[in-house]
Amino acid sequence: MALSVIVLAAGQGTRMNSTKPKVLQQLAGKPLLHHVLLTAQQLVPEQILVVCGYRGEELQKACQEFKVDWVWQTEQRGTGHAVQVAYPDIVANNRVLVLYGDVPLISTATLKNFINSTPADALGILTAQVAKPQGLGRIIRDSNNKVIHIIEHKDASPEQQQITEINTGIYLIPQRHLAAWLANLKPQNSQQEYYLTDIIALAVNDKVAISDCSIADEIEITGVNSQQQLAMLERQYQLTLAQQLLEHGVKVYDPNRLDIRGVVNAGKDCSIDVNVVFEGTVVLGDNVQIGANVFLKDCVVESDAVILPFSMLDNVVVGIGAQVGPFARLRPGTRLHAQTKVGNFVEIKNSNIGVGTKVNHLSYIGDAQLGSSVNIGAGVITCNYDGAHKHQTIIEDEVFIGSNCELIAPVRVGKGATLAAGTTLLKDAPPGGLTLTKKMLTSILDWRRPTKAKASQTGEK
Ligand code: UD1
Ligand code: CA
Repeated sequence: MALSVIVLAAGQGTRMNSTKPKVLQQLAGKPLLHHVLLTAQQLVPEQILVVCGYRGEELQKACQEFKVDWVWQTEQRGTGHAVQVAYPDIVANNRVLVLYGDVPLISTATLKNFINSTPADALGILTAQVAKPQGLGRIIRDSNNKVIHIIEHKDASPEQQQITEINTGIYLIPQRHLAAWLANLKPQNSQQEYYLTDIIALAVNDKVAISDCSIADEIEITGVNSQQQLAMLERQYQLTLAQQLLEHGVKVYDPNRLDIRGVVNAGKDCSIDVNVVFEGTVVLGDNVQIGANVFLKDCVVESDAVILPFSMLDNVVVGIGAQVGPFARLRPGTRLHAQTKVGNFVEIKNSNIGVGTKVNHLSYIGDAQLGSSVNIGAGVITCNYDGAHKHQTIIEDEVFIGSNCELIAPVRVGKGATLAAGTTLLKDAPPGGLTLTKKMLTSILDWRRPTKAKASQTGEK
């Protein structure tokens, strides 16, 4: 039997106290809804229907990369009502897996196991034992331990509130039973909503088997209803990601002070100091060292490279054995070849830095091609922008550029050339020789530095 997935995502999420729709709040750098859709895709279903309502256009825009069909629930009258509006679009005789847009970390493995363990004609329900069941629907069983009902926290008696087995909100429903059950939902509860949970009792009434499957890992079924819950889930999730790196052999100085908002692939013997943030896809070779407070987004850092503290790298390739920072800012399109050195307060963008080249202090290098074994002195600036266009600077192998030079692009410095300190390079420098701006240096010998007059001399008190 083919699978249809319905993701419920129409609610506003009032308890978040935010103007953003709840399912667009970010967990580990991705909207909650993206986590759920990525997992749903892994199941290769025949269709994915997403129920949207509150700021639905924003949801659709934020999920353009996903192949899903959108269903509008203009008025949010409960989880049962959300499935009612999706019902006409469900392929006949499929199995219908219901997921919630605000339960982001449910895993593909858990769902596959749930689907495989649920008989084709049964109503499957995913449950969990939790320490703090407050606010969640409770599982009611009969004397034979069969699930017969779900009662929401708000509707539960004090005895029922003691139950620690909860409804994760994830069900597998045979489509052919669904129409009748949905038609029988009644908003007779404290919230006056159409609860999807009521289909359990309806299935029992129709003598359809209920197949319950329990999940142990609480992180997978944690729903996000408040900023507190989101922050706690973020920390728990980050800890599991840090643990994966530790298991892989990476030295993580403090697993509680690392943030991975994307994917990190690390080789052998890498180390990551505290407060490092990774975004997008980051690949580390072997024996890479990342210092404290480093931010890396979409980078490749090759083996034996060292990134010293407080450096920020975005879309950068760092070559073998290179050293970056502290306090370096490397912007998109920067390629550092092997054994390069980029030091403090250096900004580089869209540039190639050749093998063994050093840019050690206080420089701006933009739209430049630097050869190998070049030395860039302190305070060197490539003036790449004329107010309208960007221009290239080419610096050939073994060039030495003295401190505080300005290179007015487009300009080329020939192989082995030397620029004296303070040169403003307005045209190409030939290879080999010394290029300098001739300035007159004068000393005025009878000059006196101004001094402050003493109070006693001016009569001031
Ligand atoms: C729901 C379950 C509860 C379960 C819990 C697990 C019901 C009645 N209760 O409660 O048993 O323990 O999830 O997390 O189902 N939504 C819509 N349209 C609506 C209402 C909700 O699309 O009209 C969406 C929300 O955007 C959200 C999801 O459904 O993504 C769950 O809704 P929410 O109001 O958070 O339900 P809970 O109170 O958490
Ligand atoms: Ca919820």
